[in-house]
Amino acid sequence: MSLRQFILSRKLLRSINVLANGIQGRWKDVAELFGLREDVFENPSHIPFKRPVSVILIGAGHRGNIYADYALQHPDEMTIIAVAEISETRLKKFQKKHRLNNESCFTFWNEVFNIPKFADAVVIATPDHLHTEPALAALEAGYDILLEKPMAPTERECRLILEKVKQTGRIAGVCHVLRYSPYFRELKEIVNKGLLGDIISIQHMEPIEQIHMSHSYVRGKWRSSQTATPIVLAKSCHDTDIIRWLVNSQVKDVHCFGNLKWFTTKNAPEGSTERCTDNCKAESTCAYSALQIYLRDKKRLYVFDMPDDRDYWDDYILSQLKTTDYGRCVYRMDNDQPDHLTVNLLFRNGATAAFSMEAHVSYEGRRTRIMGSAGDIYGNMENFTVTNFKTRKQTTWKMKTDAHGGGDNRLIKDWLQAIYQQDGSLLSSSIEVSVESHLVALAAEKSRLTRSIEEIILPESESPKPE
Ligand SMILES: NC(=O)c1ccc[n+]([C@@H]2O[C@H](COP(=O)([O-])OP(=O)(O)OC[C@H]3O[C@@H](n4cnc5c(N)ncnc54)[C@H](O)[C@@H]3O)[C@@H](O)[C@H]2O)c1
Repeated sequence: MSLRQFILSRKLLRSINVLANGIQGRWKDVAELFGLREDVFENPSHIPFKRPVSVILIGAGHRGNIYADYALQHPDEMTIIAVAEISETRLKKFQKKHRLNNESCFTFWNEVFNIPKFADAVVIATPDHLHTEPALAALEAGYDILLEKPMAPTERECRLILEKVKQTGRIAGVCHVLRYSPYFRELKEIVNKGLLGDIISIQHMEPIEQIHMSHSYVRGKWRSSQTATPIVLAKSCHDTDIIRWLVNSQVKDVHCFGNLKWFTTKNAPEGSTERCTDNCKAESTCAYSALQIYLRDKKRLYVFDMPDDRDYWDDYILSQLKTTDYGRCVYRMDNDQPDHLTVNLLFRNGATAAFSMEAHVSYEGRRTRIMGSAGDIYGNMENFTVTNFKTRKQTTWKMKTDAHGGGDNRLIKDWLQAIYQQDGSLLSSSIEVSVESHLVALAAEKSRLTRSIEEIILPESESPKPE
C-alpha cells in the first residue's frame, strides 16, 4: 500500500468513526478531517495577524504568567513589551522569560502610566483590591485592557470601570474564562439554537475540591472576605456569569444561605499545633497536612516562587511552611470565607436557578443541569448529555481539558483578535456584560449576611443586550 493509500484509508476510517459517534468529540475531529485549524472552526471571525498585539502585564503572579505565556506559544499574535511587578524575584524571572530590557520592567503598576501610551493593551492581574485604579489609569491612557475577575470588590468600583470603558470607547475584557471553554460554548449553542425549548430552570454546582479550598480560601490569599473579596464574588462570579449567560435574561431576585462550618478552631484535632511543622500529633491523619500537600505531594507550589534547581526544593518548601501562611493549621487561621453556600436566583423571564458552591468534595469540575420545555442537559465539564423529550434521543459530548475547561488560552485568543480587529463584539466577556454577574454575587453576599432577598435593578444604560 502506498503512503497516499494508507493516509486515505485512515481518513476514511476516521470519518466513519466520527459519523458513527455523532456529536461525541465532534468539533475537533470534524475540524481536523476537513483540514481546518481548530480556532478557525470554532470562530470563523478570527483573522490571521499581520503583526502581534503588544501587551504590558501588570502583576506577574500566577494568573499574569498564564496569560503572558500565550505570547511565548504564539509570538505571531501577542508580544509582551513591558511588565510591572512588585516582587523582585518574580520581576527578574519574568524579565528573563520574555527577554525584556531593564527599561521595560517596572516595580509599581502606576510607573507604567507615567509614560505616554507605548503598547496596544494592558493585562491587569494584580490582587483583587488592586484592579480598579490600574484599570481606570490604563483606559484613561488609551489602552485596551484585560481585567482579571473579580473586576473590583465593590459595586461602586465596578460601575466606575464600566463608565470609564463607555467614556473612552476602549475594548475591555474580563477574565470570565469559562465562557471560552468548548464545554460551556457548546451548552450555550444548544440553548441558543432552542434545542431545549424555553429554559425553565438551572441547577449548577461548583465543587471547589477540599485541598483547593484549604489552599486558596483557608490558608491562602482569599481567606478573608475583607482583605480579598467575599468568596461568592472571588470564586463564584464565574458561575453567576455562566448561569446568567445560559438563561439569557436579567436576574431579578437573589437569595443566599451559607457559612463557615468546618475550618474553625473548634474542629482542630486533639494534639494539633499552630503549624504542621511544629510536631503536630494529628499531622499523619489530617487531610489538610501542609507537609503532605506541599512537601510530599509537591502540589500547588506556584505560590512559593520555587528555585530553579530541584535539588533545593525540599529545604525550600520546608522553610516556606515554617514561615508563610501555607504551613499554618487550617483550623487555626484568621479565615472567614464560607465553605458552603447556596444561591437562589429568579430571572426576569420567570426562570430560576439554584447554585451551590461546595468545598467539601474530592473533585473539581462544575456540574450543570439545564431543564428546558423541550429537553434537558446534565453535564460535568468533561461531558454532557442532551435528551429530547419527544424523541427520547440522547446525544453525548465529551472532552477532557483542565479546571477552566481549556478557557484560559481561548480567552486570550479572542481578546487579541478583538484588539487586532478593533471589534469588541469578538469578546464574549466584555466589561459591559460582566458587571451584572458581579452585582449578583455582591447581592448574594448581602443576602447571606442580612438574611434578605435582594433585588437587582440595572439602569437601562447598563442592561446588556441578549447574548
Ligand atoms: N480568571 C480566573 O479564573 C482566576 C483564577 C485565579 C485568580 N484570579 C484573579 O487573578 C488576580 C491575580 O491572582 P493571582 O493568583 O495571579 O495572584 P498573585 O498574587 O499570584 O499575582 C498578583 C501579582 O501582583 C503583584 N502586585 C501586587 N501589587 C502590585 C503593584 N502595586 N504593582 C505591580 N504588581 C503588584 C504581586 O506581587 C503578585 O505577583 C486576582 O484578582 C484573582 O482573584 C482569577
